[in-house]
Amino acid sequence: MDPASPTNRAPAIEAEGKGERMYPLEQAICTCQQCRLAGGRTQAVPGAGNYNAVVMFVGEGPGFEEDRQGRPFVGRSGQFLTEMLNSVGIRREEVYITNVVKCRPPDNRDPLPDELLACSDYLTRQVALINPRIIVTLGRFSMQRWLPGASITKVHGQVRNIGHGRIALAMFHPAAALRNPQWRREFAQDIQILPNLIARASKANEAAARGEALPAGVPHPGDPDYRSDSAKPVTSTAQADSSGDKPAGLL
Ligand code: URA
Repeated sequence: MDPASPTNRAPAIEAEGKGERMYPLEQAICTCQQCRLAGGRTQAVPGAGNYNAVVMFVGEGPGFEEDRQGRPFVGRSGQFLTEMLNSVGIRREEVYITNVVKCRPPDNRDPLPDELLACSDYLTRQVALINPRIIVTLGRFSMQRWLPGASITKVHGQVRNIGHGRIALAMFHPAAALRNPQWRREFAQDIQILPNLIARASKANEAAARGEALPAGVPHPGDPDYRSDSAKPVTSTAQADSSGDKPAGLL
């Protein structure tokens, strides 16, 4: 038997751990053949970071450098994201980062609806496993998953309750922020609300773990729609931005 296989290397207690459950999911992503993007990838990019993160960042899809390294946001836009996180006192290692599609679209084109759909369940399972309180959507494809029909130029910087004890914060895609000085300023502004959201979410988790009542307005496991071990399956993805005010290309 392969000594690295999940069944062979899992001590009983670790089998309960998130790493043990994430490993087969990452393996499935890395060997996935469910859409045409598999044919063009150097490697899939499942995601990276803290499996116990309170906050999960979800981007669009791997670019050239991510495809080469197998890690999300390691190119120019990743460098910008890291700088922005650091500017508000958050380290990359604290958060979990992934994308709506796990393989690089050719020439960095937008992911197609069938590609988003083929990858959708992987993200559903990652969210269920990590169980973040806060999902930060980076760009419109990620935003559409949780806020279908929204316009990113209108909702960026806003927090929405998305059920399951979670909130979503919509932000511009870092690559778009790098291209547009106004969006760059707005990105820098929007990220400033994160530390406070994280502090509240962490307090909620600690209080929930002690079985205490939680401050009003904080999503918590007492919410009627909170489910800690499953996320609502996504039935449709990549809905068009109904406002029609988005510029062409990546937001
Ligand atoms: N852009 C994305 O959307 N994701 C990455 O991982 C890198 C660049």
